[in-house]
Amino acid sequence: MQKSACIIGMGRYLPERILTNADLEKMVDTSDEWIYTRTGMKARRIAAEDEFPSTMGAKAAINALEEAQIGADEVDLIICATLTPDYIFPSTACLIQEQIGAKNASAFDFQAACTGFVYALSIAKAFVESGVHKNVLLVATEKLSSIIDYTDRTTCVLFGDGAAAAVISSEKSPGVNLKINRVFQGADGALADRLILPGGGSRVPPSIESVERGDHFLKMEGKEVFKHAVRKMKDVSVQAVEENGFELADISYLVSHQANVRIINAVAERCQIPKEKVKMTIEKYGNTSASSIGLCLCDMQEKSELKDGDHLLLCAFGAGLTWGATVLSVEGEDNG
Ligand code: UT7
Repeated sequence: MQKSACIIGMGRYLPERILTNADLEKMVDTSDEWIYTRTGMKARRIAAEDEFPSTMGAKAAINALEEAQIGADEVDLIICATLTPDYIFPSTACLIQEQIGAKNASAFDFQAACTGFVYALSIAKAFVESGVHKNVLLVATEKLSSIIDYTDRTTCVLFGDGAAAAVISSEKSPGVNLKINRVFQGADGALADRLILPGGGSRVPPSIESVERGDHFLKMEGKEVFKHAVRKMKDVSVQAVEENGFELADISYLVSHQANVRIINAVAERCQIPKEKVKMTIEKYGNTSASSIGLCLCDMQEKSELKDGDHLLLCAFGAGLTWGATVLSVEGEDNG
């Protein structure tokens, strides 16, 4: 019988430095009041100069492996979701593989921006349930501070750094397992320029002119992205719930990508999910792109909020544009 893919261990790494709204008030023309009411953010973490997506990701991965009680040499594949890789190549996944000593693992990066964690779950699930791999390590890791223009108030208040990792396996762990139900996802490349890093790739290679234009900084049409985020996350969430055989009332928690408290609340409202079931880390970590859902799950785990029989609705939205959702079903040790 085909075994279901489960998350059997999770881990995270957050840099020490905290950038508060008060700090940002000293850097650009903004206010704590504007940032908090428009986004729900109070603080975000910023990586040190010698911290990179690979080093942060490796630390999160080691924590996830410990929790899953498996050795690094038992990992068959490392998938890294990041839009801020250490290098364009080699992949950040390969750097992590070396740093954690996962000598039997293959490794690759992929790009789905803020939807990275959800897309990665579908990739890991496919590898595990097809029997190709037993243990897949998902690492979502971002150093967004490296692509932010800290003179642009429309973007610099929004983003933070951090990493989250999950071990996905066909063998359940003795602890809490999160069964990955079917993942639904989509994309619309017609809206690619709404959220983009224009420079640094082969279309706009780095040059004095590209640097002077600021092409190496993230650009976003916030209002436009906001509108699509609410619409697409609501639609794909309802699809993920219903087509996995659940009802919206069965959902114990909404664990959404953390881009804006108003987006999260609008999605929850449209899905008729009450406020007390909505998980938020946005106030303390800001938008950490691919890492945000994993950081939210780690927060829940830390607070022992993952209970046998719970169903968590995960949904995300990001550059591409991309979106995705799934339901994770919590299975404790007594569920075998
Ligand atoms: O993670 C991937 C997906 N990303 C998202 O989903 C983000 C989606 N977008 C958003 O979350 C929101 O659009 C933002 C938080 C980025 C912006 O909020 P908004 O309510 O859409 O504000 P706005 O862009 O319409 O700006 C309103 C006003 C403008 O001033 P005027 O033109 O009304 O005079 C902006 O210049 O607020 C101004 N403004 C600021 N004021 C103080 C923009 N940024 C700031 C700021 N501080 N940091």
